Amino acid sequence: MDDLRALYQEVILDHYKRPRHFGALEEANRRAEGTNPLCGDQITVYAKVEDGVIRDVSFEGMGCAISTASASLMTEALSGKTLEEAARMHSVFHRLLTAGDEVPDIEGLGKLEVLAGVRDFPVRIKCATLAWHALRAALEQSDEPVTTE
Ligand code: FES
Repeated sequence: MDDLRALYQEVILDHYKRPRHFGALEEANRRAEGTNPLCGDQITVYAKVEDGVIRDVSFEGMGCAISTASASLMTEALSGKTLEEAARMHSVFHRLLTAGDEVPDIEGLGKLEVLAGVRDFPVRIKCATLAWHALRAALEQSDEPVTTE
C-alpha cells in the first residue's frame, strides 16, 4: 500500500511540475473560469467541442499541486471523449473523492485514481475538483461565475 501511495504521489508531482495541456487553446469554442474561494486560486479551462466530442481541452492558471495535477490529469483523460463520457467521468471522479471509507466503483477512471488520497483531506477536495467545476461550466456554456462552493 505504501508503494502504491508513493507511486500516486510521484504521478501527482510529475503533473504539477510538468502540467499537460497547459495554456490557452486558440481554437477553443468553450471556456470557463473557476475559483476556489478558500484560497482564491483560479483556473481557466478551454475546450474545443465538435459533434459532441471533446477534440481538445487545456487549462491555465495558478493553483496548488493538487489543483494543477488534477487539471492536468483531467485534460489528459478527456481529450477525444464524448460529452457523455466526460460527464460520466466527472461523476465517477466525484465518487472517488467523497466515498469515505467505502470502496467506490471507479471503473474507467484510469490515471485519475492517483488522486484517491485527497479524500482523507476534505479541505483539499475543492482543490482536486476546481478544474472539473470549470470544465462543466465551459461545456454547459454557462456565464455564471464558477466556484467550488
Ligand atoms: Fe488553492 Fe488548492 S490551495 S486550489
